[in-house]
Amino acid sequence: MSTALRTIAAAGIAALFASPAAHGAGINWASVPGKEVVLFYPGQSSWEWALTTNDMSGAEDFRKGKNCSTCHIGEEKDMGPQIVSGKPRVFKTGEKPSIEPTPIPGKPGTILATVKVANDGTNLYVHLDVNEGAQPDARQDPAYATKVTVMFDNGKVSEANRGGCWAACHDDLTNMPSAQGATRTMYLPRTRAKLTRQGGGDALVAPDQLAKLRADGYQLEYWQALLNPGQPARAATQLVFDKRDVAGPSIVTAEGTQSGGTLSVTLSRPLNASPPYSSIAPGNTYHIGFAIHSGHAARRFHYVSYERTLVLNSGNADLVAVRQ
Ligand code: HEC
Repeated sequence: MSTALRTIAAAGIAALFASPAAHGAGINWASVPGKEVVLFYPGQSSWEWALTTNDMSGAEDFRKGKNCSTCHIGEEKDMGPQIVSGKPRVFKTGEKPSIEPTPIPGKPGTILATVKVANDGTNLYVHLDVNEGAQPDARQDPAYATKVTVMFDNGKVSEANRGGCWAACHDDLTNMPSAQGATRTMYLPRTRAKLTRQGGGDALVAPDQLAKLRADGYQLEYWQALLNPGQPARAATQLVFDKRDVAGPSIVTAEGTQSGGTLSVTLSRPLNASPPYSSIAPGNTYHIGFAIHSGHAARRFHYVSYERTLVLNSGNADLVAVRQ
């Protein structure tokens, strides 16, 4: 093939992957600095597990005010491979039991992502370049090879401000140690009448208390891109409150393109939104966590990140969504 023809062919392939009405097309991602985020395989480490000193040595310091991210960002590349193996875990202080009773053979322990965020005055864009590595087919979700999710905390969920996604991950969710066969999706701690080492079960606080929590913005948004190679991304908008549930109207858009070993995903959402959502405004600090289900995985068999802070335009945060 002549060089000219090859160039045309390459341009054609690029055009195939880029959706013509691409949201975020106006963002010049090349000019936005990327932050490396390591997502690791968390096994059955629940909120309650992390708050129990015998299970997680940092529990006491977490209760005293130290966030998960303070102790753990930078350690994910050691954590993931050790947890995903399903074997007892080895630390300087000794050995601890496995927190993965049903390991997926050959599954990598971590996924690297480069995260970029931006806004154009109308939408917030979260862009991830992800290298999934060689993923075995877990055969848990035949419909989608990969799901890339952002958990967005408007700052009103104190547990998520401090503990990111773990605020919603409880010991009695589906496939977690205290589920006893029950099906239960993510929920926030204060929706439960009582929280024990086993989680909160199904007993909720009184309806007027639930209504007050809702009115106070005590919820997490869940923005998801559902992906298959060679197909346009699908987007899902959900909310986590007393359970994880599809939210309406759907306000999230998703794009995904694959090039070589890199999956590029952009999730976006309008800055201004009416209830059940809250608007995203400059001057506030938001908290986000990332999750990736890879290799047709479902439910808890995902990779997760520790929490990161996010601000619009300018300010002091892990991720600054600069205006373009
Ligand atoms: C004061 C520091 C500190 C804080 C805060 C902390 N941890 Fe830990 N964490 C540790 C230490 C030390 C270990 C080593 C293993 C052990 O002894 O439990 C650990 C282990 C872990 C592990 C297992 C790692 C592995 O390789 O198996 C996970 C998962 C974890 N912590 C999650 C969390 C979460 C989630 C939070 C917040 C809710 C948190 N940690 C807060 C210190 C901390």
